[in-house]
Amino acid sequence: MRLASVLVLAALGCSRLASAEPAYISVGADALDTVVAVAHRDRAFAAVVDVGDEAVVLAVDPDALEAVSAAMHEHHHRCGGFMLHASLEEARAAVHALPASVQAVEYALDRGALVRSVLPAVDPGRILGTIRELSSLPNRHYQSATGAGAATWLRDRWRSFTTRADVTIELIDHGYAQPSVVMTIPGTTRANEVLVIGGHLDSIAFGGKASNAPGADDDASGVATLTEVARVLLAADIRPERTIQFMAYAAEEVGLRGSQAIARDYQRRGVNVIGALQLDMTNYQGSDRDIWLMKDFTNPAQNEFLIRLIETYVGATWGLDACGYACSDHASWYRTGVPASMPFESRMRDRNRAIHTREDTLEVSRGNAEHAAKFARLATAYAIELGKGDRTGSAPAPALADVEDTRAAWALLAFAASLALGVAYRPRAGVPR
Ligand code: BES
Ligand code: ZN
Repeated sequence: MRLASVLVLAALGCSRLASAEPAYISVGADALDTVVAVAHRDRAFAAVVDVGDEAVVLAVDPDALEAVSAAMHEHHHRCGGFMLHASLEEARAAVHALPASVQAVEYALDRGALVRSVLPAVDPGRILGTIRELSSLPNRHYQSATGAGAATWLRDRWRSFTTRADVTIELIDHGYAQPSVVMTIPGTTRANEVLVIGGHLDSIAFGGKASNAPGADDDASGVATLTEVARVLLAADIRPERTIQFMAYAAEEVGLRGSQAIARDYQRRGVNVIGALQLDMTNYQGSDRDIWLMKDFTNPAQNEFLIRLIETYVGATWGLDACGYACSDHASWYRTGVPASMPFESRMRDRNRAIHTREDTLEVSRGNAEHAAKFARLATAYAIELGKGDRTGSAPAPALADVEDTRAAWALLAFAASLALGVAYRPRAGVPR
């Protein structure tokens, strides 16, 4: 059999045995030959240890991971293209797993007035500003000082959005330089039900932690998009029934590591995540339609809900596509049974070819953030409709002003209408019957 012979080949004498513990990775079955070929070329150890329906688990020399990553990019247009697992058990679970039972969530659209009052605040200029800040760093590599600096910068930025003490922002340490950043808006009546809006903070280009990797699209765009969602929700003093968490994950580019650590920890602690939305690459309009929902490693019911949100509130065009592999952090949630979605900036075949190079700059997205703003509107609607937003905050100054303005406008309109009707009816009243 093909897989069996590969196993034998990969374990033949020309392989150098790893000095350290092997790394366990899973790759799509179509990419197996590539991994094995690289291992042979570099005389590194690689052996297939399990076979799932669409993916296989390999034990590989940890030193070979960078070369594997490069080869995946070259041959499969994936830039990592594998998932790194903490243990063999976990790797096995990943390739066999149907996700754990997915709970049914009610997706009702009943916060129309609130969504429509908040959406005009979404500001493409601010998204652009955040992308510019993040992509001006040499890189946001998970092991670099600037990768760590990006996290503290983002934490401070998020902190500036509100003085509310119940809104918390944490750095999650994973044991490497870059932490993940998590902001929590606690729910009022259903605080134990959590929804997650995430993107990845790290960037990568070949050359590792010393490389120039602006990552403007991948994924400063997603982080800037969710940053704008957090800003508008807090500016409007939205108090959701459910808890909303914003997450900027560390180390996505090297095997979804930050998100996997968080998703596993939540699963272990029994945190009830009822939905996860991944924003990874939102600002490069490569296709004829605007928002592409990835069908794989995602939840069909939540995807349907997103389509209704797009049609009801965003007014953008959409389509369905697939990554073909666990291409981003939504897969980490999917693996733990959380309904996950990944709205993407283009069709896969029209994707931004500059990612993972020093050319991934804002200029490739025409120097504006109009495309990303559509995703910010979608994620804002998602946060309010799924979080069941309400405006019962204690300091809703702008909201109250809006209400007063609306009341005053209605009173004026009613007065004008009564005058107009009066004028219109008077002569008629005088018409003889
Ligand atoms: N943003 C990409 C994923 C992506 C790229 C989706 C192009 C659609 C089109 C992500 O940051 C990434 O590079 N993921 C890795 C996989 C990960 C498991 C290391 C990849 O695509 O190789
Ligand atoms: Zn990437």
